[in-house]
Amino acid sequence: MLKLLRFLKPYWWQTILLLLSVAAQVWCSLQLPALMAGIVNDGIVPGNLPFIYSTGLVMLGYTLATVFFAVVTHFFSARVGAAFSRDLREAVYRKVLSFSVAEIDKFSTASLITRTTNDISQVQQAIMMMLSMMLRAPLMGIGAIIQAFRTAPDMTWILALGVGLIFVFATIILALAIPKFKLYQTLIDRITLLARENLTGLRVIRAFNNQSKEQQKFAKANDALTRNSLFIDKVMSFQDPLISLVFNGVTILVIWTGLTHLETDLSYLGNMMAFVQYASHVLISFLMVTILFVILPRASVSASRLNAVFETKNKIVWKPKTTGTPDVAPSVEFRHVSFSYPGAEENVLTDISFRAKAGETTAFIGSTGSGKSTLISLVPRFYEATSGEVLVDGIDVKDYAAEDLMRRIGYVPQKGLLFAGDVSSNISFGNEFATASDLVHAATVAQAKPFIEKLDKTYLAHIAQGGANVSG
Ligand SMILES: Nc1ncnc2c1ncn2[C@@H]1O[C@H](COP(=O)(O)OP(=O)(O)OP(=O)(O)O)[C@@H](O)[C@H]1O
Ligand SMILES: [Mg+2]
Repeated sequence: MLKLLRFLKPYWWQTILLLLSVAAQVWCSLQLPALMAGIVNDGIVPGNLPFIYSTGLVMLGYTLATVFFAVVTHFFSARVGAAFSRDLREAVYRKVLSFSVAEIDKFSTASLITRTTNDISQVQQAIMMMLSMMLRAPLMGIGAIIQAFRTAPDMTWILALGVGLIFVFATIILALAIPKFKLYQTLIDRITLLARENLTGLRVIRAFNNQSKEQQKFAKANDALTRNSLFIDKVMSFQDPLISLVFNGVTILVIWTGLTHLETDLSYLGNMMAFVQYASHVLISFLMVTILFVILPRASVSASRLNAVFETKNKIVWKPKTTGTPDVAPSVEFRHVSFSYPGAEENVLTDISFRAKAGETTAFIGSTGSGKSTLISLVPRFYEATSGEVLVDGIDVKDYAAEDLMRRIGYVPQKGLLFAGDVSSNISFGNEFATASDLVHAATVAQAKPFIEKLDKTYLAHIAQGGANVSG
């Protein structure tokens, strides 16, 4: 979690203003109970009306100041929070885009989606809570304890009892809930995976009449998630009633012990009222600490999932500049290339050598699963050969800058993939400066021209995500 705090750096002055305003807010709200005790003891009891008015005005002033600082705190925490999560999301996304296929396989697409969405919101929430509570809780707690001790020293044991009880309750609640937080994120991953798979494979599911089976699979994952969150919520739902119980118990004890004082000294009433308010401040700040203890473990699960993304080293590192001069005649050459997928025991390709020259057609023929697509995917460096060399135009692919290599390759994947947009945005995917005649030329080469021209808006015809609204 702490590692992600680096994303707060650009917003340091807003963060400092936020913390200052939290401190000011706490200070102002700590003044109120003492002033109220003054009104009761020195105003109401002796019947001093002007004193009540003047102190009342001062209290109003402090209240307004508290409101002002509360607004300032919220303003900055919203700003800093939104900016923080935007930057974090962008950084995760940039990192993911830089991954080679091997790293994406390692995390799974579904998990990467959860990480860029759900995990980031968890961390954002936690950071915001931390910023507003981490300073407020100790300031308010300690300030209120000191003030409470000053107003009624003989009642501090009641406070200690209340704090002790809250501490015990909080420990039990947290011990039950924390193990479930870890599970929660994994279950979300599972839901994302199923939803993604089922929605993209909807036609196949329909064709095999498997809706109910897939529905059951989803329902099972959904139930597991629901059970998990319900358990967390059930445990957490004890928190509020227990806190109220402790708070009301404290109030009753204060009144109980205060009664004996009141028999001899009526002005003790003000102190009692102030003490109850300070006690509530103390309990609230302890409550904040427990809330932090709930949010932090939860967010630190998410934070470590994000850090795992940041800390993953790209196995494939591109040269910033291509070294060597490429041959004039284009060619693709494999020299004793072997390859196995990460984690696999056996090689898919073993000691492959060949040279495909310009002007020739080189074909690879083999049964399904023999490694044809794998072999091709080594040319654009989707994966790195385990041993041996892959050369494009006489230069090892490892010595190319990414752009230079891709410019030399026209890659048609086994499974065509179109992006949401229109026909022209898909044809010009690799060249944003393509002119209208370039588009037509490309379409002609791909023998797609007659088909495109039959479409309603021809080159501006809408293409759905994944190219779902056009034929293969
Ligand atoms: N991402 C991957 N991770 C692990 N193993 C993989 C991966 N992709 C393919 N394989 C395995 O590598 C082997 C070769 O697969 P490949 O896709 O290259 O076969 P192919 O010759 O293109 O088959 P087809 O003719 O069906 O397209 C198969 O055994 C396959 O299970
Ligand atoms: Mg294939």
